[in-house]
Amino acid sequence: MNQKDVVITLDGPAGSGKSSVAKKLAEHLGLLHADSGAMYRTFTLALMQRLGPGETPEDFGNQVKAAAISPESLHVEVKIDADRQSNLISGLDQMDLIRSPEVTARIKYIADRLEFREAVNRLLSKMKGVVADGRDMGSVVFPDAPFKFYLEASVEMRAERRLKELQAKGWNEDIEALRESIRKRDEEDQNRQFGALRRTDDMILIDTTHINLDGVLRRILNSLQIQF
Ligand code: CDP
Repeated sequence: MNQKDVVITLDGPAGSGKSSVAKKLAEHLGLLHADSGAMYRTFTLALMQRLGPGETPEDFGNQVKAAAISPESLHVEVKIDADRQSNLISGLDQMDLIRSPEVTARIKYIADRLEFREAVNRLLSKMKGVVADGRDMGSVVFPDAPFKFYLEASVEMRAERRLKELQAKGWNEDIEALRESIRKRDEEDQNRQFGALRRTDDMILIDTTHINLDGVLRRILNSLQIQF
């Protein structure tokens, strides 16, 4: 393979470890890591800044629908270099803000809308030499990618991982609330009209419930037939 141009896709549900694996894999292979979830998060935050967060996530969703704001007018930009992806709103890097539980609770209202899916897909479509992670990378955005993986894990394990991640950022959440939010997001991600989470026949399935990050990485590198 011409490594410079290759696209590797990693899809799977919330907390399956896609982003951490994609980051390490990209580093290892000298590719860039494109985090599509971060792009949906950035559009969600940009809309929260424009419209306010709403009284409830549903209220926010209704406002998004009524306001019919075009994705272009939100001035979202994504820059990817060897170290990290910068997600910018009007030139300002949003860093960890996009991962707040408030954004997570509202993202569905953006990820369900075709105009935002097309905007994210446009940001991704010109990319080559990337490991792209998300829900529909192998099925919709890069259907011709030569290497596609699907990561999954039990709800319990995914909630535990998410708890550690949030705690490391200084946010505290109840483990049962996290389990519930993961179940809800699985349901939403699998059932959306466009870009639903789906494992296609050409994706290699890896269950990460009992394998750590390095273990998953080794499995992927094995199937890419590259020595680790
Ligand atoms: O890391 P986590 O799985 O919690 O989420 P993420 O990858 O940052 O994605 C956040 C949300 O964006 C997902 O729950 C999906 O609703 C949406 N998303 C999507 O619809 N399509 C993608 N390709 C990536 C994310």
